[in-house]
Amino acid sequence: MTKRTALITGATSGIGFIIAKHLARKGYNLLIMARSPEKLKTLTEVLLDIDATISVDGFLCDFSSMESTNAACDAIAKKSPKIDVMLLNAGLWNSSEQKTEYGIEETLQVNLISQIQVFKALETCIPKNETSKVIITASALHQGEIYFNDLEFENGFSGFKAYRQSKLGLMMITRWLSNQTEFEGISFYSVHPGMVSTDLGRDASWFARMIFKLFGKSPEKGAQTHIHVIDTENSSLTNGEYYANKKVTKTTPYSYRMDEAEKLWEVIRSYIER
Ligand SMILES: NC(=O)c1ccc[n+]([C@@H]2O[C@H](COP(=O)([O-])OP(=O)(O)OC[C@H]3O[C@@H](n4cnc5c(N)ncnc54)[C@H](OP(=O)(O)O)[C@@H]3O)[C@@H](O)[C@H]2O)c1
Repeated sequence: MTKRTALITGATSGIGFIIAKHLARKGYNLLIMARSPEKLKTLTEVLLDIDATISVDGFLCDFSSMESTNAACDAIAKKSPKIDVMLLNAGLWNSSEQKTEYGIEETLQVNLISQIQVFKALETCIPKNETSKVIITASALHQGEIYFNDLEFENGFSGFKAYRQSKLGLMMITRWLSNQTEFEGISFYSVHPGMVSTDLGRDASWFARMIFKLFGKSPEKGAQTHIHVIDTENSSLTNGEYYANKKVTKTTPYSYRMDEAEKLWEVIRSYIER
């Protein structure tokens, strides 16, 4: 039987690492986009140790650079893979304002723009059939709105707001994509892993880090909703929806505003095409 292929971002630590190991156990061939050569090498060894019959192809990619993201997507596209499952999971949470080499606020670029850039660059590799899925890591922290007038928080940066907006954006784009005839045949899901003790808060205050350490669940537990969505047939899931604790979960009224989601899609597109 031909093996299925999964592409994953943010697999070198935390929740993504557990998801990647699950995919290897399930016999998926893997395409991994990661920024650290050392971590990529270690991860590849771990995955091949789980199942030596799968292929693991690593692509160096820093999501704070559009050039790097484009180059990695081009290299993946050259292999003409059939990507059955795309997991857009890489993310960060900054406590102070950081700009990328393009002068873009880093949370916006890494968490939102680059993840959508990967989908846009490789969507033609995703077969339009009942088993394909795109799974995007969102968060229960998604309250508020998309601040179109100050998307990069030039008028006062808050790491919390920047993170929350990026995750709201991902969830809204997930819903919007599921409604586009252009992408009919692909199923889209956003997932909240819960509060998980990972490296996400590496840049946060000691107090925030302590809260995550004390109250966060293990990455193994945090990956369970992703694993549920990966393993469940699309016919038993709800296309476009947000999953938490393995169930479709209602989100804020604003997050269902598809006019705002479409506006955001256009804004992201203009960043990507800059
Ligand atoms: N932990 C939580 O409580 C929680 C809750 C809700 C949602 N989430 C989301 O879950 C996802 C995974 O986070 P995690 O908690 O597992 O944290 P994590 O351990 O810090 O994992 C983040 C992953 O993203 C990668 N990454 C970050 N910036 C990157 C960049 N510029 N280029 C390439 N890769 C980059 C990291 O690569 P490196 O290994 O090279 O750093 C790592 O693989 C994130 O999207 C996060 O927002 C987490």
